[in-house]
Amino acid sequence: MTLADDALRNSGVERLMLGFSNLRETREQRPMVLTGGDGIFVIDEDGRRYLDASASFYCAALGYSNERLVAAAHRQMQAMPFYVSAQQRTVPAVIELAERLAEIAPVNDAHVAFGATGSEANEFALKFMLYRNTWRGQPKRRKMISRLGSYHGGTLTTAGLGGSKSVHDAFALPMQDHLLVSQPDFFNNGQPGETEAAYCDRLIAELEQVIADAGPETIGAFVAEPLSFSAGLVIPPEGYFARVQAVLKQHDILFIDDEVITGYGRTGQMFGAETLGLAPDILCSAKAMSGAYFPISATIISGDIYRDLEAHSDTQGLFAHAGTYAGHPVGAAVALEMLNIVEETDLPGSVRAKAPRFAARVNALADHPLVADVRTIGMAGAIQLRSDGADGAVATGALAGAAKQLAAVTQDLGLIIRMTGQTAMLAPPLIISEAEIDRMFDLFTEALDAVADQLIA
Ligand SMILES: Cc1ncc(COP(=O)(O)O)c(C=O)c1O
Repeated sequence: MTLADDALRNSGVERLMLGFSNLRETREQRPMVLTGGDGIFVIDEDGRRYLDASASFYCAALGYSNERLVAAAHRQMQAMPFYVSAQQRTVPAVIELAERLAEIAPVNDAHVAFGATGSEANEFALKFMLYRNTWRGQPKRRKMISRLGSYHGGTLTTAGLGGSKSVHDAFALPMQDHLLVSQPDFFNNGQPGETEAAYCDRLIAELEQVIADAGPETIGAFVAEPLSFSAGLVIPPEGYFARVQAVLKQHDILFIDDEVITGYGRTGQMFGAETLGLAPDILCSAKAMSGAYFPISATIISGDIYRDLEAHSDTQGLFAHAGTYAGHPVGAAVALEMLNIVEETDLPGSVRAKAPRFAARVNALADHPLVADVRTIGMAGAIQLRSDGADGAVATGALAGAAKQLAAVTQDLGLIIRMTGQTAMLAPPLIISEAEIDRMFDLFTEALDAVADQLIA
């Protein structure tokens, strides 16, 4: 059976369960099957090229044909394809990567534990918080605050951190340790007549109330992305994080900074913490850490936390935590080469240089008849579609299918975007050129116009 076989092409895939897809649809309709890549473009089994404005879940920062990353993987495969980093054994690349990350992460006196995925990085951060608090004689300090609309991973605990009630219910997640507060989303959640400053006051009051209601002595951590991508690139109001961090400090609650997406230059600095002025106790990194060429993640903790973990592990004889592929040598070697490339090419600086062009193209869509709001930072843009149908120019209810239609039309035009509810997210590989930024927005605008022509009378 070859892929050119029409019968195969016209049926779905029977045995494969694809995430964030309708399982029946996958079984009945062949998904997009990608067989190659070239810069910011990917190529499907029919030879069609797509400009990937999603960097494949916001992770392929260097695109799909970086030979240095491939060569680094190959060299490590030849030298030492695998050894587990545990039981007082490891490999040189893993040691070096921990040193390099500790140097650059905006975390005091950093120490590094590796994982394979972003979910693991967050899950381990929470596990370490619990381990520390049992050592400190505070076993009740175990609750986690996260924000509605967020996404922090697919494991039981990290899915509970995610701010989607329908996911909590559908998977019957154990939610007893989870507390949810609002996303700092002024455009969607601000009240009529409310200023951004008053909105920020309201968010801080809500956080304080949630802490007071649960009892500060029961809360271990607050988990947030600097900018929530899953909530549609929410850019917090001025002063939000400074005030959140002050509240957390007051109650001895750890701040876990989920930089699974925002790390490695996406916002124009190496980490979103630097762009937003955050001082995390724990920073979680993944995705672009290896350019997404090999699964690897890191939980980077402060020296204060580390010392408690060390003391606790000493009383127990060992730190009873590991993962077979936590710090895979090939992932570590690729991540080291990624850091070399980031430094040699000043990847965050290149994002800052291209960001004005990117932002100009996002902002130019603000007045489009289908658009409710636009938001942008670094090499990421959100174009939120109107959904109310209140404007006389739009037939009531006609916009219900706009998001799905936009995803389909862009794909037909050779552009891959990520729809998050009503919001189109454009966050391409960071190596995108200015000419490609223009091409990407030309295609996106063409799709937006086509959908508007169909839906707006
Ligand atoms: C902000 C954020 N945190 C964590 C994760 C989980 O990472 P992974 O899918 O590698 O487990 C994701 C995945 O998209 C994410 O967007």
